[in-house]
Amino acid sequence: MADNEKIKVSIDGIPVEVDPGTTILNAARKIGGDIVPPAMCYYSKLEGSGGKCRTCLVKVSKGSEKDPRPMPKLVASCRTTVMDGMEVQNITSNEVIEARKGVVEMLLINHPLDCPICDQAGECHLQDLGFEHGAVSTRYEFERRTFDKIDIGDKIQLHMTRCILCYRCVFTADQLTNQRVHGILGRGDAAEISTYIEKAIDNDFSGNVIDVCPVGALTDRTFRFKNRVWFTKPVEAHRDCPTCSGKVTLWYKGEEVLRVTARKDQYGEVEEFICNTCRFEKKHTADWAIEGPRAVAHTSVISSNHYENLKPLQVIKENPTLKEANKYQFERSVRL
Ligand code: SF4
Ligand code: FES
Repeated sequence: MADNEKIKVSIDGIPVEVDPGTTILNAARKIGGDIVPPAMCYYSKLEGSGGKCRTCLVKVSKGSEKDPRPMPKLVASCRTTVMDGMEVQNITSNEVIEARKGVVEMLLINHPLDCPICDQAGECHLQDLGFEHGAVSTRYEFERRTFDKIDIGDKIQLHMTRCILCYRCVFTADQLTNQRVHGILGRGDAAEISTYIEKAIDNDFSGNVIDVCPVGALTDRTFRFKNRVWFTKPVEAHRDCPTCSGKVTLWYKGEEVLRVTARKDQYGEVEEFICNTCRFEKKHTADWAIEGPRAVAHTSVISSNHYENLKPLQVIKENPTLKEANKYQFERSVRL
């Protein structure tokens, strides 16, 4: 195969052509819509991320044109590269849906069900996954791991009890800042995010660990308990910042800017990392040039009552051949 030749792959029956070396997850993202596997640890902007959480599992029902044998086990789509002629199943496979349910159960084993008081509620990927795949009750009978909350400097709080050990914050601190002082200490059920003797993560870009955390383990102390995110209005704004791009989302309640975050794409990933001055120090409308309401593309509760009426399961609706195979998902989306 020539270097620049594209690789043909199909995901849930939808064909797509991608560059060699592309992962199944990114091939699925190229198609878009509901066939894209969820990803709790992979982050396209962070080198080395992925392979930790297993939420992105898919079934490879045909390995490649050359070797059509299916892969014997479900694979992590964020870490498996496509082969020419590969056929992948995500939401068309009951096996995948069942396995993902198991992964969610596993992720929730130690996670407290404190969404009603968690600042991340409404934009938490684990909450969304729990809603989509979770069981109504837990089978876990042992005592859950608990930790005391730790203030990492005066702007960030670590609530380790909620952490799913995705490593995103570690990669962020490693790759964005010049002095990482936190990491994962211990292994197995003793693993925990910790700083070197609770030393403050103290540099211009440290606040980005809040944005990359898929759950409410790292939160913004300047926003804690101020409001539920779905009662706030996200607005895009920018400023002339000497340190970062200055492109942010302001979260308003009435006239007041309650918090400032980086802008996120449809997969919940930060578009451009922002500096701490923009995030923590500029909380007045006068600091910003307002662009307009933020289009919330994520199918979480933030999008309800806001600017867009999202069409659920668009890909499936537009692909009649998949409708039958996805009857269960489709009927569920209509009910929602
Ligand atoms: S604190 Fe958040 S970002 Fe860091 S490992 Fe835990 S869940 Fe991931
Ligand atoms: S997103 Fe693939 S293993 Fe976590």
